[in-house]
Amino acid sequence: MSPGDKKITVVGAGYVGLTLASVLANVGYKVYILDHNASKIGLIKGGKSPFYEAGLESFMKNGLESGKLVPVCSYKECVLDSDVVFVCVGTPSNSDGSICLDNVLSAMESIVDNARRDMIIVQKSTVPVGFGKQLKENISQKNEKNLKLSLIVNPEFLREGSAIFDTLFPERIVIGGGDLEADELILIHREIDSYAAKSSMDGLNEYAFVYRDFSGGAAQKPFEERVMKTSMESAEMIKMTSNAFLAMKISYANMIARMCQKTGANTKEVMRGLGSDSRIGSDFLYPGLGYGGGCFAKDVSGMIKSADSLEVDSGILDAVKKINDTQVYIALDKMRALLDGDFHGKRVAFLGLSFKPGSSDVRESMALRLLDKVLLEGMFVKAYDPKANEDARGVMVDEKLEIVNRIEDVFGGADIVVLATGWKEFIEFDYSKAAKKMRKPNFFDGRGVMDAKKLVKMGFNVDFF
Ligand code: UGA
Repeated sequence: MSPGDKKITVVGAGYVGLTLASVLANVGYKVYILDHNASKIGLIKGGKSPFYEAGLESFMKNGLESGKLVPVCSYKECVLDSDVVFVCVGTPSNSDGSICLDNVLSAMESIVDNARRDMIIVQKSTVPVGFGKQLKENISQKNEKNLKLSLIVNPEFLREGSAIFDTLFPERIVIGGGDLEADELILIHREIDSYAAKSSMDGLNEYAFVYRDFSGGAAQKPFEERVMKTSMESAEMIKMTSNAFLAMKISYANMIARMCQKTGANTKEVMRGLGSDSRIGSDFLYPGLGYGGGCFAKDVSGMIKSADSLEVDSGILDAVKKINDTQVYIALDKMRALLDGDFHGKRVAFLGLSFKPGSSDVRESMALRLLDKVLLEGMFVKAYDPKANEDARGVMVDEKLEIVNRIEDVFGGADIVVLATGWKEFIEFDYSKAAKKMRKPNFFDGRGVMDAKKLVKMGFNVDFF
């Protein structure tokens, strides 16, 4: 399938869909990016991403200028003309913790309704195991025109903040089901791979800065070794279990950090020792406020629900969730100790609002969870985030909170600095002048990213996870 010959629709202009569509358009495919949200599509038409993702807008602009990326609002405008349709719609949590599948179901229905030719439907949204099988039945029941509509499950593993990099250099490409059609999908991934090989790695490394877990090793493995053909059920399980496992590593690190704190063991030394065993690995062993974002919390709860429905004991994941949910109280205890036990009327310089560095996303942000508690305790806050101020203003309104546009403006008269998201800008900032502007030089590093000794030399009282 050469890029010039085939047309693709990507349904859902979120982190996964918009990134995939923009990359495919740069590879040379004609790509329709479809979203029912007209204001989102309006922004995209004007070359603006609805969220901050490093490098994405330049890929979007190239795609729009070459005419290869076509933003649309309705299925009619694109499905008729497409050989492959990627489904990248959101699957949020239901109130009972199970995964809400309505968006996928209605996308599938619209695709089948509008199909006029044989087509490969690629399901990328995160769903519970067994859902693909149900979708396949739905599709064949609705397929009144008897077209060849094949379903393949192709989970996405990109991380926000390095979405472009991860799409160009995926560590694994999991193709669930689809038999013969799977080869067509592998060809698309191969085209992305050839495009990526010609792109400069140097220029792309900056997109990959998110956590200190980035090694860049994925790009070194040959393409064939990164492709895995599996059953649909296995592909669905691989996606959910990967996220739940990473969440488990984080909660484990947070539990160990709690123990270290009570014994005098040095958490950083312990994590370094633990992670040096290659069977364990050092990634995702960074203690802090806990995991947030649109995926981990939702997928851990979804896994618990799936396991329960299969009558499999999910206790290990209940513990993961419990530790994550209570990390914010450990943070408050540490802040209370720095502030001599008294929160009321204290002024906080709050750094970071997004759920992770490199992203403007505030969904399930642990920074916002802590901020909420700090305000409830009667403290006054000046907060700053390099990219998430606008999104945070949309969800956090309190007369004791001011969200400012420059890092320098948070410190005046403050009793404590609270670092809640590990942005590079915060790590590299020179806090010596800030200390002089504060009423009390206290520093709580909620992400364990700062050099505590340096801060102590500047006169700060410091605590961290
Ligand atoms: C995660 C997975 O890493 C991706 O592989 C997956 O595709 C994605 O979810 C998804 O399902 O869409 P993402 O949520 O973008 O990606 O971000 P991560 O880098 O995984 O971080 C998640 C959270 O864990 C953040 O709040 C981060 O601050 C926290 N974290 C991460 C820690 O607290 N400690 C760590 O050591 C690592």
